[in-house]
Amino acid sequence: MLAMNKIKILGTTAIVIAASIVATSCKDRRSTGWEYAPNMYEHTAYDPDQPNSQFKDGKTAQVPPAGTIPVGFKKFDYPNTREGYDKASLEVASLIAQTPKHLAEGKVLFTTFCSPCHGTTGEGDGLVVKHGYPAPPSYSKGQSSRGGAMKDLTDGKIYHTITYGVNSMGSYASQIAPEDRWKIVMYVHQLQKL
Ligand code: HEC
Repeated sequence: MLAMNKIKILGTTAIVIAASIVATSCKDRRSTGWEYAPNMYEHTAYDPDQPNSQFKDGKTAQVPPAGTIPVGFKKFDYPNTREGYDKASLEVASLIAQTPKHLAEGKVLFTTFCSPCHGTTGEGDGLVVKHGYPAPPSYSKGQSSRGGAMKDLTDGKIYHTITYGVNSMGSYASQIAPEDRWKIVMYVHQLQKL
């Protein structure tokens, strides 16, 4: 008796489910059916690719006005020229707090990005140099190809070099965020004193 009831209940449930699927699916071919929390799909904000009468060109995705920078972003307004390098040397100073934590992070970043050429102690004896790559000058004893001793390189000169590169050293602007570049600069200053 009980077993029969169970089968009946299951059967009825199956019929109800099947009937509701049939009833809801054939209403309108283009309809997606019932939506749960429709605000998630049909939000009030414009999508970037949607037409928009609020703007002259009728587009939602607007190009930011020339010179726009993200909030909190500090522009490094020195071109990749000899003049830009010299100007940065005079005007630019580190933007981050000189803390042991930043120095330790600078060491890790330096080891990853710079030590393959400059060596872990900045002597210019990294692994790729041992395999024949042109050796960079030592931070503590060498001479810069742009004049002056490497140990006297300023915040601005080192930051400019990381940002743009110099001769056979490439730019690290796309790999290393500005704040991380400043951490590396801190660590290079440490290596200049060795
Ligand atoms: C692919 C090898 C290589 C890597 C990696 C590299 N450098 Fe260099 N770097 C060089 C060479 C070679 C020079 C010397 C270029 C010249 O003056 O002709 C140099 C020069 C420099 C100078 C001296 C600039 C000047 O004004 O004379 C600094 C500072 C410097 N590198 C910092 C860094 C830092 C910081 C990193 C890591 C973010 C780094 N380099 C990564 C090869 C490299």
